[in-house]
Parts: sequence; structure tokens; C-alpha cells
Amino acid sequence: MKRMKGAAERCADRIKEERKVHLVSHIDADGLASAAITVKALERAGIGVEVEFVKQLDASVLERLERKDPGVVIFTDLGSSMAEEIMSYRFTSVILDHHLPSPGDGNERELLDSGLHLNPHLFGINGSYELSGSGVAYIFAQAMAEGDENNDLADIAVVGAVGDLQDKKHGKLVGVNRQILEEGAELGIISYEKDLRIFGRQTRPIYKMLQYSTDPYLPGLSGDEKGCIEFFFNLGVNLKDESKMRWRRWIDLPREEKQRVVSGLIEHCIHHGVEGVDRLVGEVYTLEREEPGSELRDATEFSTLLNSTARYEEAQIGLRIAMGDRGEAYRRARELLREHRRNLSAGVNFVKENGIKVLNNIQYFYAGDQIKETIVGIIAGMSAGTISKEGLPIVAFAKCEEGLKVSARATHALVKRGLNLARAITTSASRVGGSGGGHDIAAGAVIPEGSMETFLALLDEEIGKQIR
Ligand code: C5P
Ligand code: C5P
Ligand code: ZN
Repeated sequence: MKRMKGAAERCADRIKEERKVHLVSHIDADGLASAAITVKALERAGIGVEVEFVKQLDASVLERLERKDPGVVIFTDLGSSMAEEIMSYRFTSVILDHHLPSPGDGNERELLDSGLHLNPHLFGINGSYELSGSGVAYIFAQAMAEGDENNDLADIAVVGAVGDLQDKKHGKLVGVNRQILEEGAELGIISYEKDLRIFGRQTRPIYKMLQYSTDPYLPGLSGDEKGCIEFFFNLGVNLKDESKMRWRRWIDLPREEKQRVVSGLIEHCIHHGVEGVDRLVGEVYTLEREEPGSELRDATEFSTLLNSTARYEEAQIGLRIAMGDRGEAYRRARELLREHRRNLSAGVNFVKENGIKVLNNIQYFYAGDQIKETIVGIIAGMSAGTISKEGLPIVAFAKCEEGLKVSARATHALVKRGLNLARAITTSASRVGGSGGGHDIAAGAVIPEGSMETFLALLDEEIGKQIR
């Protein structure tokens, strides 16, 4: 960590000389959080910044930037998979990322020493669960500050990490993510506690919270409204707060009732043979400066709200929210959230109806234009463990402007056996004339139209080699 902080200082020193920079970030929750943190740190240092969001970085984006002659470009939550290429363009770049850097980047050392590439993987820190893009941005922000005045960005860094599911492996944030969490907790802006780890504890009526749970999938409850209502009835837990005439949310339940529900759920899951029941309970993160009962109060719900903007070409709205706008941008985001939810549920239904094909070492589905390419990865993740076969990585395809978008998701058990999706996807994609990147556990690519079959065969073989 000391070495990484040193590198952050060098990045900051390079940027402090500038009056204006151009920022390029990724269109997901972590990308927005990374951008928000970086913009705040720059503005506080009196540096102007122009922000743009891209689905992925490729030569066309870099060529466009070069024509624009932007001075210095900061890349957040992307860039590492093509660091060497980026540095060959005629503008100065600083990369703040956590994706797997491309192997054999001969220039790694040089990039590090010149203070232009900040990535946890270069310092022995795992970027898939120990530090997110927003965490890297936070470390850069700390380096930009005189003292610890940028530590108040820790809550947004946690939102980014949780948005990338970095808390999933251990049911809590670990590594550098945890240090950031503790810094935020010390300031009183974020808190953590052990609780039920099911989406919607701030905003959803309790029975809806269970009904919509896909992770973990709860047999007899997920997707079954009646089952959920009965479940609470049998436990003697009221769904409604009669005095206030409204549905009770998880945060409305007193500790004793919460415990009764958790015990009931564990029993229910064991009875139905659900694996990994221990995942039901873990750490949850509360943003103490946000309104209780709002989407912004819980880190996971906050990250979903951000995804609802960025994945629908409205990243600037999400950026404003992550930077503190609670007016017009927030209203718009809540509208987008409703649409996002509808799309997720339609997407999962599509997969259910059309099924998943199984090869030797992978399983896949082709969504054509039925699922938007920017959310097909989320749907793949939601399908894993529910609709799909356990024990195989899931690969999803959707049409996109440039050809075919590929999204793949795996489990920690597979990673332990040697799987590295980023490597496998990058190799297979480049063989069919596409490009990709990501993490060991989740990766993506864009490949030419018509190359799906070849790509699948290559990927199947590559992954077979990794996990044999
Ligand atoms: O581009 P970025 O790094 O921000 O995205 C990481 C992706 O990895 C997210 O889409 C996240 O959902 C996925 N992921 C996952 N399972 C994990 C960890 C991350 O699907 N255990
Ligand atoms: O798009 P999706 O959510 O499937 O992305 C999974 C991971 O792969 C993310 O970390 C994303 O940044 C990365 N990815 C990439 N290059 C692509 C597509 C995705 O590095 N062309
Ligand atoms: Zn990220």
C-alpha cells in the first residue's frame, strides 16, 4: 500500500501542474463514483475538469481524444487493459483503474515510475475485491489534498466498490476497501453493521424485498408474492404499519423482529437445500448523511440508482447525484430506476424462456436485441445460480453498434480453481478480431458480428485449460 500511495503522489504531482483536464470514465456505478471523486478532488485543487463517459475504451475513442488535443486526460475505472497503447497517443494520460492490466505490458515499470498508471494489481493488491475504481480514485484524491480533507469522499468510494460487487466474496469489504470504509466511519459519514444482505432494505416493503431477491435465490419466495406474504404471516410479522398506514420496510423492523425473520429465512433456505446460506447475513453499508428510507441511504441501492442512469446514456445525471445533487438529477434518476427495474425483470424472463446452452466448460445465451447490451452483464449475473447450471461460467451475447457485446460472469469457487475470465475473454476476443478485458470473476468484450460460434469454441477451450 505504501508503494501504491507513492505512485498516487506522483500522479497527483503531475496533475497539480494543470489548469484543466479531461476525464474519461466508465458507464457503471463504479465508473460514476470514480468520476465524482476525481472531479471533486480536482475542483478543490482549483483545476477545471470536463467529464465524458464511454461504454468501453477503444482506438476510436483515443483517436477522437487526440484530435481534440485535450492536454491531460485522466482515465478512471478503465484504461489499464490498454495502458501501453494509450501512452502512445499524443496527449498525457493518467490511468486510475482496477481492471486487470494487459499481460506483458513491458512498459509497466516505466509507466509506474513516471507516475501515470495507478492500479492495485501493479502493487500486489487484487482489483477484483480489494480495491475498486472508485477506491483508486479516492487514493488519488487523498494524494491531491494537503491533509485529509478529501477523506469525506470515502462514502462514494464504498458505493463504487459495492456497485462492483467487491463485498460479495467475503460478505463484507476487505483489503484497501476496508481501510477506506474505516476512514469514512471515523468521519461518521458511513457506517457498517451485520444484517440481512438482501437488496432493498431501505426502500422496499419487506415482502417485496424477498420477492425480488435473486441473490441469493430463495425457492418458494423469489418471484412468489403469495409465498412471501405467507412467510411473514407464519412468523407473526406484520407487513403493514397500521398506525402510519404504510408498508413496513426492513429498516422499520425492531431488532427482535429482524432476528425472527433472519432465523426463519435460514431455516427456510436449509429446508429447501439452498447452498451458501451463510451469505444471507453479512455486512451492510449505510450512508449516514442521506435520508433514511431513500435509495441513497444504502450503498447497494445507491449503486443501483447510479447504474439506472449510466447504462441508459444518462451518466451525467448519475454523476451529479454522486456529487451531491439531490434536486432535479435525483428526481430524474428515480424515474430511470423504475425503467431499469422493468428491464432487469424482462431480461431475466427472457433468459428463463429461451434457456441457456451448455458447452464443455461454459454456458451461454444469445439475447440479440432483446436485452440492452449495457445491462446484459447484470442479467447474466442475475441468471447465474438461478436459471443457469451451477459450476460453469456464464457468457451472454447481445447485439451492439460495433457487433456483438459479450459479458461473462463466474464464481469465486471457479476462480480458486484457476479461472481468469479477463484473460480468457481477452485472448479469445482478439483471435476473432475483437477486444475485451475485466476481472478474473467478471469480464466483457466486443467481437465482430458473425463470430460468436468461433469465439465460443475458443473461449470454451481456453477456460478448459485454465480450470483443468
Ligand atoms: O467495470 P467494472 O470493474 O466496474 O465492473 C466490474 C463488474 O464485475 C461488475 O459488473 C460486477 O457486477 C462484476 N462482478 C461480479 N461478481 C463479483 C464481482 C464483480 O459479477 N463477485
Ligand atoms: O460489460 P460487463 O458488465 O459485462 O463488464 C464486465 C467487466 O468487463 C467490467 O469490469 C468491464 O469493465 C469489463 N469489460 C472490458 N472491456 C469490454 C467489456 C467489458 O474491460 N469490452
Ligand atoms: Zn470498476
